[in-house]
Amino acid sequence: MKFVLSTIAWVESIAKKEIEKIWGKIEETIDRLVTFSWEIELIPRINIWSRVGNKAYILLSEKDNVKTFDELFDAVKDISWKSYFKKDFPIVVKTNSTRSELFAERTIQSLTKKAIIKSRVWENWIVNEDESLEKMEILILLIDNKLRVLLNTSGDALHMRGYRQKAWEAPIKESLAAALVLLSGWKFKEPFYDVFCGSGTIAIEALMLAKNIAPWIKRSFAFEKLGLVSPEITQKERDDARKKVYSWEYTIRASDIDPEMIELCQENARLAWVGWEINFEVKDFKEYLDKEISWTLVSNPPYWERLKDENLKSMYNSIDKLFRLNPKLNGWIISSFMEFDDLIKKDTYKKRKLYNWGEKCYFWKKNI
Ligand SMILES: C[S@@+](CC[C@H](N)C(=O)[O-])C[C@H]1O[C@@H](n2cnc3c(N)ncnc32)[C@H](O)[C@@H]1O
Repeated sequence: MKFVLSTIAWVESIAKKEIEKIWGKIEETIDRLVTFSWEIELIPRINIWSRVGNKAYILLSEKDNVKTFDELFDAVKDISWKSYFKKDFPIVVKTNSTRSELFAERTIQSLTKKAIIKSRVWENWIVNEDESLEKMEILILLIDNKLRVLLNTSGDALHMRGYRQKAWEAPIKESLAAALVLLSGWKFKEPFYDVFCGSGTIAIEALMLAKNIAPWIKRSFAFEKLGLVSPEITQKERDDARKKVYSWEYTIRASDIDPEMIELCQENARLAWVGWEINFEVKDFKEYLDKEISWTLVSNPPYWERLKDENLKSMYNSIDKLFRLNPKLNGWIISSFMEFDDLIKKDTYKKRKLYNWGEKCYFWKKNI
């Protein structure tokens, strides 16, 4: 069976490692998509364990050179829909077309629905339009005229872990926060710090990673409601995940200048079941300028803010100073404040391009 995991841009290599760790065999990696294969058990396992994935799909069909609507219709009609529809669930068709001849969204969607209905008409099957039912989400992906027909097994995107009931107005995606911790090379037994913690996402993801807590907390998935996998298999995967949590204690500190943010962090961490293990405190990050620190620090400082440009520059100068004063610090910041490059000495930082909610940003690392 073939599957596809979609990811945020530039973290495909991390997604590949995640998949290999749960035994998936990598078939192909392209921009924001990793295709892999294995048995049906992989559906709950990838949904339960993926920290950087966006949605996990079953690859129902793939075909090169699909350039006409007739070819699209036939490719969709030829899929054995009977194997996937256990009940008559409502269908939602989404489309994404890149560098391809077929791109008219509405036409692709209605044609796909018609082809699915046509392939099942002999069973007197009608599409159930009951809004309260789980929807069967089909994604028609066309890249360079290659068609992929995908069935969403996750439901809501996997970055929505469920612990962030309330959030700061632009919190970082949970999946991106997990990717940052992984990219930082943090060694779990050393202290970890986020000095601009906002709603606490980076610190919470760091602890979940260190403790090997699967990021499925408080979530159910579309594949369960659609009956794609037997409940016993899913239950076994969940039980196995619970047994894999480490009981080791880790030192994770997260601070923010805003007391309301710290209250929010505590609530979010409680919902993620890690509330008592992260040290949250109200603090201006400048208080660290006169302390020696040698931890891993991963932070997402303000980048647009209600702050004036001058204040932002002064804040980023202080961040640079904090990093320079502490040669042992494994320091990283993610931000879309591009002017940071003008404030720092050339070659004192490495940077990696990433996207947060579609916005380009850089993950800067201070060179030792
Ligand atoms: C971009 S947000 C962080 C968002 C966070 N990554 C999340 O997922 O919610 C930046 C945070 O920096 C905080 N902040 C602003 N100035 C600060 C300062 N001088 N010291 C510490 N925190 C500060 C703001 O209150 C805000 O919560």
